[in-house]
Amino acid sequence: MLLDELEKCASSGALPMHMPGHKRNISAFPWLSSLGGTLDITEIYGFDDLNCPEGIFASLEQRMAALRGADETVCLVNGSTSAVLAAITSVLPSGGGLLMCRGSHRSMYNAAELCRANVYYLTPPTESSFGITESVEPYEVERMLDLHPDIALVAVTSPTYDGVISDIGAISKICRSHGVPLFVDEAHGAHLGIGGFPESAVTLGADLVAESLHKTLPALTQTACLHINHGLVDPDEVRRRAAMFQSSSPSYILSASVDACVSYLEAEGERAARRWLEAVRRFEDTAAGFSRLRLFTGGDGIFARDPSKLLISTAGTDMTGVSLMRVLREKYSIELETANAETALAMTGMGDTDETVARLARALSEIDGACRTAPDRGSPAPEVRLPERRLPAHEALSLPSEAFPVSDSVGRVSAEYVWAYPPGIPILVPGEVIDDGTARTLMSDTSLHSTKKRLPHEIFCVSAF
Ligand SMILES: Cc1ncc(COP(=O)(O)O)c(C=O)c1O
Repeated sequence: MLLDELEKCASSGALPMHMPGHKRNISAFPWLSSLGGTLDITEIYGFDDLNCPEGIFASLEQRMAALRGADETVCLVNGSTSAVLAAITSVLPSGGGLLMCRGSHRSMYNAAELCRANVYYLTPPTESSFGITESVEPYEVERMLDLHPDIALVAVTSPTYDGVISDIGAISKICRSHGVPLFVDEAHGAHLGIGGFPESAVTLGADLVAESLHKTLPALTQTACLHINHGLVDPDEVRRRAAMFQSSSPSYILSASVDACVSYLEAEGERAARRWLEAVRRFEDTAAGFSRLRLFTGGDGIFARDPSKLLISTAGTDMTGVSLMRVLREKYSIELETANAETALAMTGMGDTDETVARLARALSEIDGACRTAPDRGSPAPEVRLPERRLPAHEALSLPSEAFPVSDSVGRVSAEYVWAYPPGIPILVPGEVIDDGTARTLMSDTSLHSTKKRLPHEIFCVSAF
């Protein structure tokens, strides 16, 4: 039973260097221990309705809006996934122009598909040392808005999964001067603006901002918010869409965890975030002394970085990111968020303490001392190339398709999404032409998922192309 497995995991003593942000830290957030089935009710008299808030939930949303500096906030229990879907579908007319990052989460692609959007991509370069996507350049947003007057919504992901922040202040000014609303997917940044962390998009001029509470704050998985700043978007339509993308019986257990999280932030948020930030700064000091492993601290093309994300490069050593993740798990009982060929990502959250972050630092110091230098394996990640797009995704998905051997798919038009989870960013989108490099990745990368589940052998392609 899953419950047994969860109990086993909880008593294993493993340090959770990954989501969710509460980190099973019952002593810091004692309400977590009692958030069990006994609290699970439905919309009975006196308990309000999260999809139509008039009582306790209306006041919860007002408190959250005040805390984050938004004009209005919608609380959600179906993750930022529902916030992204609600934000985009509430603003974008059917067939409207959507300017979005190619490295967006799947929910953004799903929203674009539902709107039959005319998608334009922002493709920031890949940072050469860690192989991660750089910040979105404001001038690129301006160039695209000038070039494509049908763009009705700009959607930017900031921070990214790797902790890269874009200049949302400048981007929002550009959007405003074009009369186009700006949506920021801040799923990874619900802690921004608190206790010394970089400023949140909510107070930097974005019209709509999605935040997952569960990724970094003390709240249960699936809890999220959609913040609204008035002017260019219709709050009633945003709320109507939000209710469309979550259950009509939103969990009271999850909602109670949002309520408790807001109370905690109101009372302790600034202090807790400062403690967390200080712990992370001490980690940075330790990492500055590493001989071989390297911590990502920013650089050219990076507007700002979310310090809560600890991205470690193993390039130039005899370890891969994956082997670093395995050693931390097997020898130190520390579980990371994710890893790939050259990097490994540790996520800190408000549930971390000085000691948990120091424990990770000690383990990495030991590993740094024990690993060897090795010849460079080449660039950490290939430059993100924008695949040729033959059809919009919604069209490719509606046409007859058939399975082809991946080895025979070069030049064909994909009828499927292909992604790795985490982070849930599609590497192939329906309507895109499969090139040689993509076909090789599909055959060799066993972590990839596809809608039709035939990888690494077959991929569904549009029959007519
Ligand atoms: C950038 C980004 N946006 C949105 C989401 C969806 O968030 P949630 O899991 O809260 O639905 C994720 C999830 O990983 C994400 O990484």
